[in-house]
Amino acid sequence: MHQDERGHALTTSSSTAAEEIDLAIHNFLHWKSDVVPHVGASLEADPDFAFANVVSGLIMHGARNVHFRKKIEGSLAKAQECAAGLSEREQLYLNALEASAAGRITEAVSLYETILAKSPVDLFAQRLAQMELFWIGEMDWSEQISRRCAAHWNESVPSYGVHLSCRSFDLEETHNFAEAEALGRKSVDIDPTDVWGTHSVAHVLIMQGRHDEGIQWIDSLKHNWADSNQMVLHLWWHRCLFHLERGEFDEVLHIHDTWVRNRELPLLVSMPDLYIDMQNGASMLLRLELRGVDVGNRWAELEELTLKRLDDHTSPFTSPHFAIILAATGRFDEANQLLASMRAFADHDRGTFGPRYVSAAIPAAEAALAHRCGEHGKVIELLLPARHQLWQMGGSHAQRDLFFLILADSILKEGRTDLIGIILDDIERAGFADAASRIGYREAETLVH
Ligand SMILES: [Fe+2]
Repeated sequence: MHQDERGHALTTSSSTAAEEIDLAIHNFLHWKSDVVPHVGASLEADPDFAFANVVSGLIMHGARNVHFRKKIEGSLAKAQECAAGLSEREQLYLNALEASAAGRITEAVSLYETILAKSPVDLFAQRLAQMELFWIGEMDWSEQISRRCAAHWNESVPSYGVHLSCRSFDLEETHNFAEAEALGRKSVDIDPTDVWGTHSVAHVLIMQGRHDEGIQWIDSLKHNWADSNQMVLHLWWHRCLFHLERGEFDEVLHIHDTWVRNRELPLLVSMPDLYIDMQNGASMLLRLELRGVDVGNRWAELEELTLKRLDDHTSPFTSPHFAIILAATGRFDEANQLLASMRAFADHDRGTFGPRYVSAAIPAAEAALAHRCGEHGKVIELLLPARHQLWQMGGSHAQRDLFFLILADSILKEGRTDLIGIILDDIERAGFADAASRIGYREAETLVH
């Protein structure tokens, strides 16, 4: 019987198929870009290896792109066809793919929890659960899962550092910053290429206003990322956040052009519109514009990519970023088309995303449009009542801050000094230290004193 690196059975008669899928999962867990070729090699060695088909579907599902739907359904159908003889664990992964493909994300997570209840070191399930929960804003749930697993981990279990980096990010998003930083640093000590642990510490540093340290942290580790996936570009986005807070806008633009949206980088050549890269680009350009920086024609390449995805409802956090991009380039007809499509989806979807589009993604997208049109009263009307539900769109506190920056800008432009205390409270409630000293809120703070 073949096994993965943590001793779980792999149901295939081909040792090559087993080794390749184990390597694909290993690389996925370690945020390496070299994943899909190993899934392909596994399936080439044994096309009827049901679990490899499941992994293929789950990885494509994780890319949050409506254009992958057919491929995901193909992987799912093939896995179902070959499901006889699957282990109980593999069958649960197959069930999770079925739920995920149908948009029943919380059901998929509960299946990962079931897998982890039997084998708390099944790191693939822990990682997938965290990814799903992060993109629907359910980080308390994710923290609960990794806490249950933690007691079963130690250095002797392969990829211990990855468990620590996942645990660290759960702790960071649930505001346990000291423990998050300690575990994130430990994961990077174990493996300096651990971009997720690096990322978790970067989050702690931005939340605590430790901007100089943040730049040094990224600088000291950037040489380790040659084999890593898109998380590298998100780390460069994080570095932009530190420079932005220091008012170093030219440096932000330089990093944007060199890393975050450098379309000549192999990562962006192979997939220019991966959701997180689209978010990174839109978010940083708007943050710069909110500070009065002219970003030139940098929105154009994002516009071109967004126009192909007006009916993509695979991510309630990404859709408002699409609205931001279309509004920035004056594509108001298409932005309204996007919004109509979001509303129609929300009206009929009975999965996990529909309600989240209603409570968070749609008001955020509408506010982005109103803001670009200078309708600041409307931005306030939209975001003030929705702001306590915005977490439901998913993403991190640092990412969702963009929508609070938009609201703060509209509050200032409307001269609504009565609302400034509310927004500053919100920012501290999100976990940011000393909200009033941050670049997007400093001006507002001076008006109330
Ligand atoms: Fe992040």
